[in-house]
Amino acid sequence: MKYTFLFIFILVFTFVSKIQAQKTQRPYRAIYSGAPWFDNRDSILSAHGANIIKDDDVYYLFGEVHSDTSNAFAGFNCYASTDLYNWAFKSAALRPQKTGKLGPNRVGERPKVMRCPATGKYVMYMHVDSLNYKDQFVGYATADKITGPYDFKGPLFFGGKPIRKWDMGTFQDTDGSGYILIHGGHIYKLSDDYTSVVAHVNKSMTSGFESPALFKKDSIYFFLGSNLTSWEKNDNYYFTAKSLSGPWTKQGLFAPKNTLTWNSQTTFVFQVNGSEDTAFIYMGDRWSYPKQASAATYVWQPMAVHGTKISIPELQQGWTVNLRTGQVGHLSPNNQRISNQSRRILYKGNWHQDTTGGMCSDQQGDSFQIQFTGTRIAWSGHSSRKGGYAKTVIHDKNGSILYSAIIDLYCLYPDKAIKFISPGMPKDTYHLTVTVLGVHPSWSDKRRSDYGSTGNFVSLDDLSVTP
Ligand code: GLA
Repeated sequence: MKYTFLFIFILVFTFVSKIQAQKTQRPYRAIYSGAPWFDNRDSILSAHGANIIKDDDVYYLFGEVHSDTSNAFAGFNCYASTDLYNWAFKSAALRPQKTGKLGPNRVGERPKVMRCPATGKYVMYMHVDSLNYKDQFVGYATADKITGPYDFKGPLFFGGKPIRKWDMGTFQDTDGSGYILIHGGHIYKLSDDYTSVVAHVNKSMTSGFESPALFKKDSIYFFLGSNLTSWEKNDNYYFTAKSLSGPWTKQGLFAPKNTLTWNSQTTFVFQVNGSEDTAFIYMGDRWSYPKQASAATYVWQPMAVHGTKISIPELQQGWTVNLRTGQVGHLSPNNQRISNQSRRILYKGNWHQDTTGGMCSDQQGDSFQIQFTGTRIAWSGHSSRKGGYAKTVIHDKNGSILYSAIIDLYCLYPDKAIKFISPGMPKDTYHLTVTVLGVHPSWSDKRRSDYGSTGNFVSLDDLSVTP
């Protein structure tokens, strides 16, 4: 009897360890913009309006948790990574409070964490507001450990008063001074302990200019921000200056005009200082209202910086960064491409070829499916003004769901790109199924203007399988 138990225990242990080993065997090998990212729990990463900070050779990502049903504050998550491709969930760094300004039916956005050099504490700053965006201020929370839990302290004070503004960001200068950035271009200097503001370093320089982000190269400061179009993407732009107090020179767009910043909104610029080069990583959000939890994605792109000019001239679908050298690279995977006309794809419903060559349908419940053998699968599609939501599921050969995600195919700037890429899986046979949900992104902004798609289209350009 005793031996039977021991035998069962060893069997279960071996099986569980094997699954664990398989799951982590082939992680992501690049940064993929505009496709959902799965974390170490196989859940979709929820960290929007984010920032990254490096601490003890580990990269920590902080961002907004979202829900698909309401815009109310759902907390801020913390993830950790050692390669910037694979993220492990660490903590609900700041949870919704039982009552008060970050309690029920409130808004909390754009968390940014910095380590205060004077106290060694971690300080998180955020935009706090009411659900109708009429009670805004910059709030802060502190923690002894980077992963938290963070203790919400309320408003950040300047001259005894809260800073009653909305979109915010942070910047830590090379001398350790901390700054709060505010829409319009305001910059506030933090006290040595990072828990109050001591100076209004730069006054507003333009109207709008939301989602402020700032970085420095050599002696030039670059200040990035967006136009004011709610969750809709727009052509973001930037200013430069030799001093944080200006004068600031408007430089214009950093992504090609009308690409709407490759369909994203700035949130942060993260710098990888390597032995050969410095990589400047533009971090943006591709919002997807109302399915912000399931379908909003991240657009992280390498940014070229020369003199006072910055640019993201083309959208990199999968790119790498060597954290030791700071050099940016590209994957040349040995993928098998499967055209949307392949007989291997089983289309169910009313799929037809559109003018761009994609196979599309807008009928709820229509689907396409493919069986494949390999270690990874991706599908590329066409996003448009008439795009809707699609559900993507990967089943193993026993029919169990391994990965499930909702993909948003709505974009004002039409693009053809990877919409879904699975994490690496043990080499085996799987099924991918994509189903038209028959719904699409739509919302109204603070001024009750309507935004969003006019259709429910899902379109497939091709698939690629990694052997
Ligand atoms: C802008 C802001 C976001 C959020 C939305 C709400 O996009 O940058 O942080 O406040 O508006 O509409």
